[in-house]
Amino acid sequence: MSKLELKDLRKNYGTASVVDGVSLQLQRGELVTLLGPSGCGKTTTLRMIAGFIEPSAGTILVDGREISSTARCVPPEHRGMSMIFQSYAIWPNMTVAENVGFGLQVRKTPAAETAQRVKEMLDVVKLGPYAQRYPAELSGGQQQRVALARAMIVRPEVLLLDEPLSNLDANLREEMAAEIRRLHDEFRFTTVYVTHDQTEAMAISDRIAVLHQGRLEQIDTPWNLYNRPRTPFVAGFIGKTNLVTGVFADGGITLEGLEQSIPMAPAERVNGGPRQVSIRPQSLFLGSPTRGALALGPVAVVARTYLGEYWHYQVEAVAGGAALKVHAPPTSVFEVGQQPMLSVDPGGIAVVA
Ligand SMILES: Nc1ncnc2c1ncn2[C@@H]1O[C@H](COP(=O)(O)OP(=O)(O)OP(=O)(O)O)[C@@H](O)[C@H]1O
Ligand SMILES: [Mg+2]
Repeated sequence: MSKLELKDLRKNYGTASVVDGVSLQLQRGELVTLLGPSGCGKTTTLRMIAGFIEPSAGTILVDGREISSTARCVPPEHRGMSMIFQSYAIWPNMTVAENVGFGLQVRKTPAAETAQRVKEMLDVVKLGPYAQRYPAELSGGQQQRVALARAMIVRPEVLLLDEPLSNLDANLREEMAAEIRRLHDEFRFTTVYVTHDQTEAMAISDRIAVLHQGRLEQIDTPWNLYNRPRTPFVAGFIGKTNLVTGVFADGGITLEGLEQSIPMAPAERVNGGPRQVSIRPQSLFLGSPTRGALALGPVAVVARTYLGEYWHYQVEAVAGGAALKVHAPPTSVFEVGQQPMLSVDPGGIAVVA
């Protein structure tokens, strides 16, 4: 049985459908991220799980028990969940220790036990020496850890985190993301994490649910989302890609402007007709084909940028066709106007539409 399950969850405001039939299941101890651009419905979904927003339709279950449906709606304080809000508020007039212990106090935990658990939790988030400070005397990252400690100390059934790192600079964000993953590995709270940052989502998640305009486009492991995207939106949102039209025939695909048929793995084969595929820039190569790559035909280099770690080339099939992005190692040097051979790693092609 799954720990948390959403069944066809919907939220309408007037005629606008901001969450449009989202279904997903989290296993106990799993960390799933809701990922998508601003306005796609992440916060609304999380708040429906927490009980702060009533769904227009659909069901939410915890351990198979219905906590939200058209018939009944368990109030937030009885859901056994902890939520960190997008603008994580910690109380400015309470010390770090008081902030972290607040949830236990509300639950009428004896004072001695509260003190002990606060001490342990502050050690976990490495804030032991800061127990008596006030939030205004802390850095953004430290305040963030207070918010995390406060959410985790009550040992929630489900932990809900809404962009908990959005106020931090890039370095601190990376550090805190690793920290959240470490804490997750230690405590294994079933967690729904929200972010619009794909790198953060990749670093932190067991699985990622990509939302687009209120709909769930794909839920999968970070590896599968990157390598086996199933919609053009997912392919483009998770990293850079080429969306190319190709025609399938006899178990292979021929890309627009390139005559060579590329044999496809059985799982990626579809029948006939023009289809859209995603090919990552690093699955394409220029010059003599390396081992495992398949030569497709000559292309013209139309633009190039040196980015230190790699060359970003823009090329076009000599016979015509869409422009393609190719990422090549720094040693792979071609001038604009040159016509090198283009090859592809057939395993790097995913059918998206
Ligand atoms: N109370 C409301 N009334 C009307 N529309 C709303 C309301 N709350 C949210 N919306 C709309 O619903 C959509 C989804 O909002 P939501 O806050 O869930 O987005 P989000 O994915 O969390 O975005 P962000 O990344 O910017 O936080 C947005 O278009 C928003 O304007
Ligand atoms: Mg939001």
